[in-house]
Amino acid sequence: MKALILSGGHGTRLRPLTYSQQKQLIPVANKPVLFYAIEDVIEAGIHEIGIIVGPNADQVKKTVLSRDWDANIEFIYQGDPKGLAHAILVAREFLGDDDFVMYLGDNILREGIVRHLEHFKKGNFDASILLQEVPNPQQFGVVELSEDGKTIKRLIEKPKVPPSNLALVGIYFFKPVIHEAVRNIKPSWRNELEITDAIQWLIDHGYKVGWTKVTGWWKDTGKPEDILDANRLILDDIERNIKVKTNARIIGRVVVEEGTEIDENTVIKGPAIIGKNCKIRNAYIGPYTSIGDNCIIENTEIEDSVILEGCEIRNAGRILESLIGRGVKILKSDNHPRGRKLVIGDNSQLVL
Ligand code: DAU
Repeated sequence: MKALILSGGHGTRLRPLTYSQQKQLIPVANKPVLFYAIEDVIEAGIHEIGIIVGPNADQVKKTVLSRDWDANIEFIYQGDPKGLAHAILVAREFLGDDDFVMYLGDNILREGIVRHLEHFKKGNFDASILLQEVPNPQQFGVVELSEDGKTIKRLIEKPKVPPSNLALVGIYFFKPVIHEAVRNIKPSWRNELEITDAIQWLIDHGYKVGWTKVTGWWKDTGKPEDILDANRLILDDIERNIKVKTNARIIGRVVVEEGTEIDENTVIKGPAIIGKNCKIRNAYIGPYTSIGDNCIIENTEIEDSVILEGCEIRNAGRILESLIGRGVKILKSDNHPRGRKLVIGDNSQLVL
């Protein structure tokens, strides 16, 4: 069994953060989203992993290889993102004639994939997919089940009129027959080779396609609000672990990494995580906040936010429900002329 994890694509819905970094590397609770997928695959006993890379290939390789994984990891260059089924075409040589799980590198699944992999193996399926009920099926691949609810009749990618509210989670199990399917489909209206079309090809040609329902939470971190949501869900499960000495008031499940200094005028209320070598002075860090390494937070209140590494935030008032990229400075000046002085990338959002 092998794994194919997708970390290509342009991540347009996460601009401006994705102008400078690959979207699957955005951290949730201080860990790149992509790492959750790699961990799930290894937990399921799969140690041959291919990672599809695209525009920021070197950045993905460097980040992944910064950790020692219990797996052989190979990087497969896709170039332009021409669809999920195209990624399988590109990975043909790596995948060989093995069964594999395809895991979209921007998906996070709380329960992992062990139970779903067992179902795929036991049922001797040619493909097996994961489904979850969602309130907005138009934004996903959606399935229509048979009248008895046992088998999949039809799969449609982002339908205007969804036949059900059962969305495809970005995790798929395949036998090698999928290679024949991806060779036999045509690009869709958005000019992508859709994995939903390849699975439909399997159904239409009499192959056995199974499914399992996800019981815990699942997040596709495609948009900024999804990153904040995923951050909340992951922080809900952390344990208190303060690795430094401090006289700050720290309430509840809070993680503070090595080298971080927090003065006695600071209050931190969990769940929250603060990375390495930060300086936190006279601040309030509220629930559901993740602060990356090497940040300075001074005379500021931050709650329910994700702050990436290397930020400097001083005298900034109260920051809420925010996603702040690497190396951002938010400062207050009392000099004349008064007013807001902004240097902001394309597609940024400010709510003042
Ligand atoms: O998250 C679940 C959904 O994922 C499914 O319900 C849909 O059926 C499926 O098509 C997919 O929809 P998205 O709109 O979220 O796909 P997106 O284009 O965002 O790509 C998903 C991931 O795969 C993302 O991390 C980028 C990566 N990717 C995407 C394409 C199209 C690649 O590496 N290469 C590609 O060619």
